[in-house]
Amino acid sequence: MRLVIVSNRVTVPERSEKAAAGGLAVALREALEKQGGLWFGWSGAISEGTSHPVRTIQRGKVTYAVTDLSEAERQSYYLGFSNRALWPLMHYRLGLTEFSRTDYTGYLAVNRRFAKALIALLEPDDVIWIHDYHLIPLAAELRRRGVTNRIGYFHHIPWPPSEVFGALPFSSTLISTIASYDLVGMQTVVDVRNLISGLEAMCGAKSDGRKVRVGRRETVIQAFPIGIDVEAFRKLAAASVRSATTPLKTAKESLGARKLVVGVDRLDYSKGIVQRLEAFGQFLRSHPEHRGSVSMLQIAPPSRSDVPEYAELDRQSDETAGRLNAALGEFDWTPIRVVKKAYSRNALAGFYRRAQVGLVTPMRDGMNLVAKEYIAAQDPLDPGVLVLSRFAGAAQQMGEALIVNPYDTHGVAEAIRTALAMPKSERIRRFEALYATIDATDIDWWTKRYLDALSGIDMGLPDVAPP
Ligand code: G6P
Repeated sequence: MRLVIVSNRVTVPERSEKAAAGGLAVALREALEKQGGLWFGWSGAISEGTSHPVRTIQRGKVTYAVTDLSEAERQSYYLGFSNRALWPLMHYRLGLTEFSRTDYTGYLAVNRRFAKALIALLEPDDVIWIHDYHLIPLAAELRRRGVTNRIGYFHHIPWPPSEVFGALPFSSTLISTIASYDLVGMQTVVDVRNLISGLEAMCGAKSDGRKVRVGRRETVIQAFPIGIDVEAFRKLAAASVRSATTPLKTAKESLGARKLVVGVDRLDYSKGIVQRLEAFGQFLRSHPEHRGSVSMLQIAPPSRSDVPEYAELDRQSDETAGRLNAALGEFDWTPIRVVKKAYSRNALAGFYRRAQVGLVTPMRDGMNLVAKEYIAAQDPLDPGVLVLSRFAGAAQQMGEALIVNPYDTHGVAEAIRTALAMPKSERIRRFEALYATIDATDIDWWTKRYLDALSGIDMGLPDVAPP
């Protein structure tokens, strides 16, 4: 039984490349290598012309099959419908949701084109695993063309209640395509509940616990909280203490004895970066005794910069950090450093280890793996404290963190103070409980649990496309 993975982005590893530590891409690659497999999706490149050929690249037992997008497709399918309509909508941000019929048409067209290209590569026993919101209608397009293979989907981001989802034009058509999957994996039980009640309300689905029936098809919808490679990340962090060349060494020189509060996120409005900077400013105003002895480091590599809402966020975060530094800083102390670049996993592990507080305060997030990485990187004998938004999927598993409401600036500011003052015995107690959780539900657990469920699904039902 061959595994076929489909995702919007596909990164083909260099021939000589050793597996980078951890990460979803590595876990999926390992799952493919076990039994041999295919990974299909966008090459990340843009090219014009009427036909977009599929290029296949072999690496060991894994075949990578990639196709370019045209600039018009990138605009409508990726930047437009995926990232200006679905992304904000799924993150409960109706005010930021921009719907355009042209974008929606482009989204459906790329899903159709991907389906046609994939069919040419499929074998009868293949198990197909599709990832994320860019490709929701892909299974329906495959079924329409007669594909009867087992098909699973994993939704990496939140799924909102139908009062929110229903604001999207054509939302019932889109949600009905979910019924073409055999197994739908979500991050949390809240997402499962929202999706099932959406299917009931918008498509007349009947559900019996996690099994949902739409017409003649039955789909299992279940939570599979994604994890990280805990062991690999722990080792990276421990090694960063010994290494003379990691940024951790330089951070020590630059920070001296100052305490460090760290945040690491793609520059995305769902992450609550501006609100977090304001909360750190509030903490320094409410507790001036900490001025000069604590610094905040926000690492925020730019993301989707061609989308206007992201360009606006970039401007706002610069403005906020600049304003707070000017108001609160001293000639020899800068309260906030915002660094808009990506660091290696090695370097991040070192920063997490050095930081007394990990601030993970998204306004809404599917899971948030930074919360798990921060815990994996801590020194078990002197761990830091995780401050975690209740609106991150991770909060449902990581209740021993300091749980905050990111909309409550004073509340987050007080949590920073509590974290910095927390006695070592309590830090260790919380850390041990959190580490045990993330270790028991790491990335291997997640991949295996999902694939076992997908291959164990009863296939007695006819495979028909939804109306
Ligand atoms: C989120 C999504 C992924 C996406 C990633 C980076 O984690 O769930 O599907 O790949 O963001 O975003 P980008 O638009 O750069 O692929």
